Amino acid sequence: MTGLSGSGKSTLAVALERHLVSQGQLAFVLDGDNVRHGLNGDLGFSPADRVENIRRVAHVAGLMADAGVLTLVSFISPYRAERARAATLIGPQRFVEVYVATPLAVCEARDPKGLYARARRGEIRDFTGLDAPYEAPLTAAIEVSTADAPLSVTVQTVVGRLRALGHLPRTASA
Ligand code: ADX
Repeated sequence: MTGLSGSGKSTLAVALERHLVSQGQLAFVLDGDNVRHGLNGDLGFSPADRVENIRRVAHVAGLMADAGVLTLVSFISPYRAERARAATLIGPQRFVEVYVATPLAVCEARDPKGLYARARRGEIRDFTGLDAPYEAPLTAAIEVSTADAPLSVTVQTVVGRLRALGHLPRTASA
């Protein structure tokens, strides 16, 4: 799941995880909260560190997928090339790019962690969407905007798309 900070990626990922687990599907969220504090605690937000962040996360996600876990990987992942590399590493038949396309203005108005305000004040440099780039997907398999619909509806949309794409067994119903 790729999108700006505050786009709702992790909220959606956690809701999807809950839904899928309740249907008997092994599912687990990888996001900045559980990865950047531990495994990737040595990485910041320079372009090189963001590339390394996504490289390590892609490897972990691939291993989890090997174990049969539907892995919801929620990172800004701002560069198209890194997302493509992750897809290659994980295998295009197992990788699904979900673009959480919430507009910058909505993300900034939400500003759940106050980081946009801090970035606007110049206290944080290289903030994605402001003074660091975000390369939106051109052909995401799934595109949603958390600004348009309630979370439960977006969860159903993504589950429906995952099923249509053959990524959910028939037992995990919507
Ligand atoms: S990524 O670019 O390397 O994929 P990642 O998803 O792990 O980013 O982390 C993004 C989160 O880190 C944001 O939601 C925000 O809370 C926090 N953050 C701190 N500094 C920055 C920054 N300069 N740019 C973007 N997000 C930042």
